[in-house]
Amino acid sequence: MAKGYEAYGIELDVTDTHSVEHAAEWVRQNFGTLDLINNAGILPEATDGEPHEFASARLFQETFATNVSGAVAMIEALLPMLRTSSAGRIVNISTTMGSLNEQLNPESPYYGMVVPAYQSSKAALNAVTIALSKKLRDTDITATSVCPGFVQTDLTPVNREQAPLTAGHAHRPP
Ligand SMILES: NC(=O)c1ccc[n+]([C@@H]2O[C@H](COP(=O)([O-])OP(=O)(O)OC[C@H]3O[C@@H](n4cnc5c(N)ncnc54)[C@H](OP(=O)(O)O)[C@@H]3O)[C@@H](O)[C@H]2O)c1
Repeated sequence: MAKGYEAYGIELDVTDTHSVEHAAEWVRQNFGTLDLINNAGILPEATDGEPHEFASARLFQETFATNVSGAVAMIEALLPMLRTSSAGRIVNISTTMGSLNEQLNPESPYYGMVVPAYQSSKAALNAVTIALSKKLRDTDITATSVCPGFVQTDLTPVNREQAPLTAGHAHRPP
């Protein structure tokens, strides 16, 4: 607001078809077009206290429902509107932790991090971005995956203080 922008909020659950359709209709009626940033993401493994031989199938389903299917549902509902834009943008918020190269590289700082549902969900989201880019090849819409870096948020409450970035400041806090 202070910088001259206006912001509006709307309730949205990306795992709920009706909620996604309602949000899309609200945007259509109030703005008619948009750029889409798929930011919604969860990492329930970070606070899962249960022991597992490998991983929880329930947490896989929960994680994929938001991080992958939720993003796909948003794209599917909003793409018709994006097509009316002169240069639509779809940004899928991913993570370097989902990179297969980083997971396999012993020299990578991400090599020792093992959160299977979250990492595979973001690898899947990256594949969604690639497939979407190919689908949109002949349009002016671009689709990208980005990683915001390790930021102090509610995503990782256990090791939140170890994150060098904050949401307000993209630099190491004092
Ligand atoms: N923090 C990091 O270090 C980091 C690093 C790399 C990538 N990321 C990615 O950045 C994105 C944002 O995460 P964050 O760090 O800001 O975590 P966060 O503080 O926990 O925020 C997650 C956001 O996702 C929303 N969300 C969760 N489930 C949803 C659903 N079913 N429908 C709609 N919205 C939903 C939450 O809404 P409510 O608040 O209403 O629940 C919240 O706004 C995620 O995709 C995450 O994977 C974060």
